[in-house]
Amino acid sequence: MVANNSTRIFSVTLRVWRQSGPGQPGKFVDYPAPQVSPDMSFLELLDVVNDGLTLTGEEPIAFAHDCREGICGTCSCTINGKPHGPGKGVATCQVYMRSFRDGDVIVVEPFRAKAFPLVKDLVTDREAFDKIQQAGGFISVRTGAAPDANSIPVPKDDADLAMDAAACIGCGACVAACKNASAMLFVAAKVSHLGLMPQGQPERDRRVLAMVQTMDEAGFGNCANQYECSAVCPKLISHDFIARMNRDYVSALFRENFKPASNATGGGA
Ligand code: FES
Repeated sequence: MVANNSTRIFSVTLRVWRQSGPGQPGKFVDYPAPQVSPDMSFLELLDVVNDGLTLTGEEPIAFAHDCREGICGTCSCTINGKPHGPGKGVATCQVYMRSFRDGDVIVVEPFRAKAFPLVKDLVTDREAFDKIQQAGGFISVRTGAAPDANSIPVPKDDADLAMDAAACIGCGACVAACKNASAMLFVAAKVSHLGLMPQGQPERDRRVLAMVQTMDEAGFGNCANQYECSAVCPKLISHDFIARMNRDYVSALFRENFKPASNATGGGA
C-alpha cells in the first residue's frame, strides 16, 4: 500500500551499512522502524532510529548532515542503490518517507568511491573536492573598493548558464553514480561557472588545467559518457558542462604548450 495519506503511519526496515572505521570490516544491519510518518524526512527517520539505538546502549548510525535544506551537500548517502535516493533534483535531506511503501526494506549505504574514503558508517571523507576547489575554484581580485556591478556587462545567456553551474553543492552524488567514480560533472560545474564570467577570464586557462590535474591526482576516474552523474545530481547540473570543460581544457593545453614567449601569463579564450 502506498503511504500517500499524510495521517497514515506505516513501517519500514532500514538496512544500513555499519562500519566502525576505515579499514574495518563492514556489514549491513537491519533496523525496524515501526512508526513512520509519510511527512518525516529521511534524515528525521535516521534521527528516530538513532534515538532508539542510544536508549538501548547501541552505537548510533553515523551520517553526515548540516543544512537539511538541500543547500550544503553534506547529507550524502546512497538509498536503494541511488545516490540521494528516490526523487529527482533532491538531496538526501529532501527525501520524504512518503516516497516509500509500508513494509519496504530500504538499503542505505555510503557513497562508494576510492577518492571518498569511508570514515564511519554512512560518512565519507570528501576532502578531495576541497582540494580541487583550492586548485582553481576562485578568482583573484585586488582588494579595495569594489567596482560597480553594472560596470561589467554580462550577457544574459552567459549569466544564466553560470548560475546553472554555480548551483552545484559539491555533494559527490555524481561520483557515486558513475561506474568510473568520475568527478567531471563537479569539476566542470566549478570550471564553467567562473569561466563564463568576465571576472573569471584572466585565470581561465590556469584554472581548468590545475583543477583537472588535481582531480586526476585524487584518483577519480574518467567520464564514461553515460551521464548517470547528471541523472542523480540534486541540482540537475547538465552534463553539457563536461563538454564545455573539455573544450576549455584542450584550448588551455594548446596555449600552454604553444604560447609565444611574450604571452607568458596565458589568458582566457
Ligand atoms: S544536509 Fe545540506 S544538502 Fe542535505
